[in-house]
Amino acid sequence: MRVLVTGGAGYIGSHTVRALIIAGHDPIVVDNLICGHADVITKIFRIPLIVSNIGNKKLLEEVINGKHDLLKGTVHENKIIEAVLHFAAFAYVGESIKNPIKYYSNNVQESISLLESICSPEIRSQRVNNSSIPIVFSSSCATYGVPSRNPISEENSQKPISPYGKSKLMVEEIIKDLAKSANLKSVILRYFNAAGAAEDSLIGEKHIPETHLIPLVINTAIGLNRELTIFGDDFNTPDGTCIRDYIHVVDLADAHVLALDLFVENSKINNKLNTFKNKENCNIYNLGNGKGVSVLEIIKIVEIITKKKVTYKVSERREGDPPLLIASAEKFIRDFEWKPKYTNIEEMIFHAYKWATKSI
Ligand code: UFG
Repeated sequence: MRVLVTGGAGYIGSHTVRALIIAGHDPIVVDNLICGHADVITKIFRIPLIVSNIGNKKLLEEVINGKHDLLKGTVHENKIIEAVLHFAAFAYVGESIKNPIKYYSNNVQESISLLESICSPEIRSQRVNNSSIPIVFSSSCATYGVPSRNPISEENSQKPISPYGKSKLMVEEIIKDLAKSANLKSVILRYFNAAGAAEDSLIGEKHIPETHLIPLVINTAIGLNRELTIFGDDFNTPDGTCIRDYIHVVDLADAHVLALDLFVENSKINNKLNTFKNKENCNIYNLGNGKGVSVLEIIKIVEIITKKKVTYKVSERREGDPPLLIASAEKFIRDFEWKPKYTNIEEMIFHAYKWATKSI
């Protein structure tokens, strides 16, 4: 399938691009490179990278219609995009509290522009059943806020406590409205905490600045950082530190490829679920492993894997951090017969460690 991947040069996006290529799809990446890394797309995968915000409507419409200069002479030339995987977003919970406008303008406003393009009357007139271009949207467990119960199922109420979580929920709502008004088929994937790296260390996690727990703990163990700060040890959890449900980034990537099958007429999954025929148009899934791991447990596992001590101090809680987030991904497992490859946290941390030490 000819797939437009927004934010494909980022952490989860790039692992998904790799999974798409392996599965025989034709991805094209649009990324503004604020968080993404061009080399992964142009040098490692050697596929088209269009450097732009997704809010650049004229350019996006050229790409969607296969008319962009970069697409000349490729399989994408003059062919309309068949599906969009929409990753492009800022994703730092803490930063979103300090600078909400940055999150609403990038995550919401730019998404609206993208949705306008893929749901435009011109696009719809060229497609079967006057449908919009289907989309898989990267949402987050941050949309649930502090959940009333764990594990969290898709029916849990959504009361986000950070502008980041709210920005993701707003886009979910817009997509649901477009399901009805513009025949937009969608899959909304609510990820829990992505972790790890490709097993062969070809690609991995490289955020600048890095704020995520696992890479920071590893960097402290291997001496790149002096000390880790634990954001609060007085939560109502067994050891007082926050608990998260980590999912291997490769499993997350593979889940996106499975989700795309829902857009293929007469695919096994489409026939099984029949959702689009029932005019539901929007399918929502959690993606996690259903297991909680605390901050202190992560530190202990990193110490075992690296055989190094992690120096840490405890500070105040970070605003916007729920104490406990554990997924129920039963719906995705059942519908897609999904079997994640790497469900244990030690393996995720080992892959992240291999990646972090690859170029040292
Ligand atoms: N933590 C620390 N010290 C650090 C960094 C993190 O104690 O230096 C703690 C956090 O307080 C939190 C846990 O480690 O309790 C995990 O924090 P991360 O920053 O790694 O991940 P978050 O859970 O805050 O957020 C991540 C992504 C979001 C996504 C979310 C889903 O950044 O985009 O997972 O839970 F929405």
